[in-house]
Amino acid sequence: MENKSFLFGTAVGGYNFIGREAEIRRLLSNFTEGINTILISPRRIGKTSLVKRVKELLEPQKDVIVVYFDMFACKTEYEFYNALSAAVLKQTASHAEKWMEYAKEFIVRLTPKISFSPEANSDFSISLGITPKTHTPEQILGLAEEIAHKRGKRIVVCIDEFQQIGELPDSLTVQKRLRSVWQHQQKTSYCLFGSKKHLMSNIFQRRNMPFYQFGDMVFLGKIGTEQWVDYIVEHFKDRNRNISCELAQRLCEIVENYSSYVQQLAWLLFSLINEGETATELLLNCAVNDLLDANEALFMQHIEPLSAYQLNFLRAISDGHQHGFGEKDIREDYNLGSPSNIARLKSSLIKKDLIETQAKGAITITDPVFKLWIQRRIAQ
Ligand SMILES: Nc1ncnc2c1ncn2[C@@H]1O[C@H](COP(=O)(O)OP(=O)(O)OP(=O)(O)O)[C@@H](O)[C@H]1O
Ligand SMILES: [Mg+2]
Repeated sequence: MENKSFLFGTAVGGYNFIGREAEIRRLLSNFTEGINTILISPRRIGKTSLVKRVKELLEPQKDVIVVYFDMFACKTEYEFYNALSAAVLKQTASHAEKWMEYAKEFIVRLTPKISFSPEANSDFSISLGITPKTHTPEQILGLAEEIAHKRGKRIVVCIDEFQQIGELPDSLTVQKRLRSVWQHQQKTSYCLFGSKKHLMSNIFQRRNMPFYQFGDMVFLGKIGTEQWVDYIVEHFKDRNRNISCELAQRLCEIVENYSSYVQQLAWLLFSLINEGETATELLLNCAVNDLLDANEALFMQHIEPLSAYQLNFLRAISDGHQHGFGEKDIREDYNLGSPSNIARLKSSLIKKDLIETQAKGAITITDPVFKLWIQRRIAQ
């Protein structure tokens, strides 16, 4: 069958995509009006799925072209320029086959000395051969705007895993360059998104950073329980299996509505029952164990590099403490060291993206299944 009942670990669309009505509306209006957007959430909540959905919705609209580009693999400024230019050239070409013509024109016009001969079947992941000798950053960063003018369209360049920009060598200079070129463009706007909240916040929320106040900031939250329950019940029903609304709700609670885990746990439960059968509480418990098993190797990697104090701090949070870690009782119960140690523990675990600060300074573990795993399997 074509549609998968539940899908996780990859961006989802169509049958597996639900909700996000408000965010879709907001992105659609930003994209069509040329407002820059910054989209931030913890890992695997649904940023990529959302942006791809908006891209899809804008496809029939002839005057806006949305370019999607993932910069995760870019380790240097020029790797980024090569991959970005290739994505822009390919996704703005009027016909798929035409990209090479455009690419050739772009490369050769700017640097007539260079001969450009990509492999006939080369994929777009290939480098266009752009180097500091052939192109200035300004020429490359102006490419989308140039195409937008030429084609009389608006272009939205969506850059996924944008937190990676902070990891490039001489990152601050690169960020200054990008901002100084992009902010003057008339027909091109940007949607910059990524996870690792602290990295994204460093880039966009610090006054002294180039991307401060670059655009509309959207924090992507969780999908509501009601929508998840409908989705789970319906998708069970589509395969002739049953689950009560109450049990589906319980499933959502266990993973705190965390998108990829709702889908993964629903899948694990689904795979424990046969056609015509109904899911039970007992089977849900088995599925939760399977979920912990499936993620155990990853969670072990999270805790391996931690000091004993850091691990104790995680234990305290997973037991429900959110404040008052400097107090004597908690420090002694969990062996957290001196009061001055607490601030260090907090900032080191925030940097690792394992914990986050909520409103009023409450500290929580970012990943609810990681929390459950600590509770159940890393006992004192
Ligand atoms: N709108 C949605 N409807 C249903 N499921 C979703 C939705 N958004 C996300 N998910 C679930 O979450 C998973 C992760 O989604 P996605 O890759 O879009 O998240 P992300 O925030 O981009 O993740 P990462 O931080 O790893 O880049 C999907 O595989 C799917 O299981
Ligand atoms: Mg993503």
